[in-house]
Amino acid sequence: MEKRLQLFPHSTEIRRFDGVDRLAIGGCDLTQLAEEYGTPLYIYDQSALDAAVDEYRAALAAHYPGPAGITYAGKALINLAAARWAAGRGLWVDCTGAGELYIATRAGVPREQILVHGVNKSPADLWAAVETAGTIVVDNLTELERLAALADSVADFPQLWLRVRPGLAVDTHAFRQTGQDDSKFGMGFAEAVQAVTLCRTQGLPLTGVHFHQGSHFHDPQPIGPALDRVLELLAELRDASSWTPAYLSPGGGWGVPYHEDDLPHPSIDDYVAFLSARLAAGCAANDLPLPILHVEPGRSIVAVAGVALYRVGAVKRTSNRRWLLLDGGMADNIRPSLYGARYSALPVANPLRPALDPAWLGGPYCESGDVLIENLLMADVQPGELLAVPVSGAYHLMMSSNYNGALRPAVVWLQDGQAQLIQRRETVEDLVDRDEGMKG
Ligand SMILES: Cc1ncc(COP(=O)(O)O)c(C=O)c1O
Repeated sequence: MEKRLQLFPHSTEIRRFDGVDRLAIGGCDLTQLAEEYGTPLYIYDQSALDAAVDEYRAALAAHYPGPAGITYAGKALINLAAARWAAGRGLWVDCTGAGELYIATRAGVPREQILVHGVNKSPADLWAAVETAGTIVVDNLTELERLAALADSVADFPQLWLRVRPGLAVDTHAFRQTGQDDSKFGMGFAEAVQAVTLCRTQGLPLTGVHFHQGSHFHDPQPIGPALDRVLELLAELRDASSWTPAYLSPGGGWGVPYHEDDLPHPSIDDYVAFLSARLAAGCAANDLPLPILHVEPGRSIVAVAGVALYRVGAVKRTSNRRWLLLDGGMADNIRPSLYGARYSALPVANPLRPALDPAWLGGPYCESGDVLIENLLMADVQPGELLAVPVSGAYHLMMSSNYNGALRPAVVWLQDGQAQLIQRRETVEDLVDRDEGMKG
């Protein structure tokens, strides 16, 4: 069970409250937070977010010989507090579409720190991007032509980067691969050559090239050949049109350990060291200037900082299983049902008591697939107890739903020993808020 504890934010400890050993994060008692804000509850520890950013910065400074920056991939978690935190830490914020752009601008993220992604940006997305972003990553030629048509409509037109598709896959779930040849994302190299020509003839501010191989990989090696191919493309572009990008972004995707079986896990430093060395060597081999390296992590910044709290409703025994039925599941965390993501959990009270039997942690929703965790060794947990699921910070709330009338959870932010509510729990009124009713 001690190993399981390592999955939690580093500020997690076991403290004695009211004569019981209980989990605390950032000095805050999880039991008290659950009582105050209800469950399911999502808790974010800012010190863990800060530590991840510090680790990226230190690794870039130690390993990359050129200038570097970090874009925080907002798709992993974006709300006013997270966007404000990211901007305050000097990160750029990647927004997908007009909705995330709205959140970032409402949070006060400065234009020059906003970068926009999207595989099929709508006219509204493009317009919002042109008006509010510092950088737009262009997915395809049609989009580029639409952007060219908007070029004269704003004084401060964003810089453009091209998203290219290296045509190679990384080792992750098929749903999370994006850089392979048949992927819907980005441009093939022939299109990228056309895009550069179009930008140059139209006088568009093209400054970067981006690729993203996929999400949640644990070995940086497969990024190497993709990076090599992109550098070959850059050499080709330089020879054909004397253009080289100021920025190169290899996207995000660095994985995290979700389960104690994933420990030990290679570090952010391992990933950045590999990337930096390969990029520097590739630039030298192709006689290219060192670009500004912009990494784009989401999960590896925000996943560990987030912990989900659930209350056990009923405990059920079937012929072969012990079911712990929770008050949350696929509506707040679709990842196990979507791609078999494997999680772990600890009881909040007496977390290190021995776990002898496997348990299946099921949610309350009307789907047999609504199982948050399968076959996990768990203590003798009773109805009414609280369970904490670590590594819940990325892609849970962003993919959450109102299935079965589920109310999206409250979100609490921990900073300097204080907890503050940054998003209230949805109410049943929210469920009908958009409804227009029926006439007559
Ligand atoms: C373009 C792009 N950049 C960055 C990311 C962040 O990936 P991760 O959260 O795995 O770091 C994603 C996620 O899919 C992405 O699509």
